[in-house]
Amino acid sequence: MSRVAYVNGRFARHDEAGVHIEDRGYQFGDAIYEVWAVADGRLCDAEGHFARLSRSLAELRIAEPMSRKSLEIVLGETLRRNRLADGLLYLQVSRGVARRDHPFPDPAPPPSVVITARRIDPAAGDAKAAKGVAVITVPENRWGRCDIKTVNLLPNVLAKQAAKDAGAYEAWFVDELGFVTEGSSTNAWIVDREGVLRTRDIQANILRGVTRATVLRVAAEAGVKLAEGPFTVDDAKQAREAFITGASTQVTPVVKLDGRLLAGGEPGPVAKRLRQLYIAEARRG
Ligand code: PDD
Repeated sequence: MSRVAYVNGRFARHDEAGVHIEDRGYQFGDAIYEVWAVADGRLCDAEGHFARLSRSLAELRIAEPMSRKSLEIVLGETLRRNRLADGLLYLQVSRGVARRDHPFPDPAPPPSVVITARRIDPAAGDAKAAKGVAVITVPENRWGRCDIKTVNLLPNVLAKQAAKDAGAYEAWFVDELGFVTEGSSTNAWIVDREGVLRTRDIQANILRGVTRATVLRVAAEAGVKLAEGPFTVDDAKQAREAFITGASTQVTPVVKLDGRLLAGGEPGPVAKRLRQLYIAEARRG
């Protein structure tokens, strides 16, 4: 079955769908996006992603392209037309099409909306989580507003490729003080030597991961000791456990950091437990 994409009010064959060459997303990266995991045909952690979508749009002063109700209908229709049960749903909203000129076009054109769906075998993610993944570190070189989910992902792309070149799965950005900020497409976590679960606190230098927020909640409910705040690469190397979170990775243990085995190279109990709790909770939401 061929894939179907939604572009500005129409469904089109995925391989034929396109946007205008003067779309500001294409010209300036003047666009934001969201990614929902889909399990059994339903959006996971749906509310958090809708809320972050509205926040990203507001931060860039791009108008909401349609009502929440309409958006839910279009997202559902995209799933239906792609017969998608398990996978990812991608939504991108740009400031729209206008003659190339840096300031916001005035009057504002209608925002451009693209939605695509991609099938993913859940067993592949489970297998990756069962083994754990390797992570490398790279210097933080992104702009100061990583809290906005924009499509300006070139540093993230380069970091992910560096990881791939090194035989690793993810790259963690490390700021000038030696603290880990987050991964190229995931948030970063450790269980430190005292057994405290740590992840970087929410500031402008990390994405406010929806998975991160839900994992913090389920961890607190499960009685795990938590501290939101910076940790160094050395803290991570000496940690009992490490893991990454994101819509597509859920909770995936990290077993190697910069070529060094973490905690004997085996996924740890906290990460395994949080993966189960997260998946159950995200499906409920
Ligand atoms: N990535 N940090 C970065 C830089 C990300 O790009 C992402 C998500 C996350 C995790 O956020 P969430 O839990 O809300 O998915 C953290 C998505 C999946 C992507 O770019 O495909």
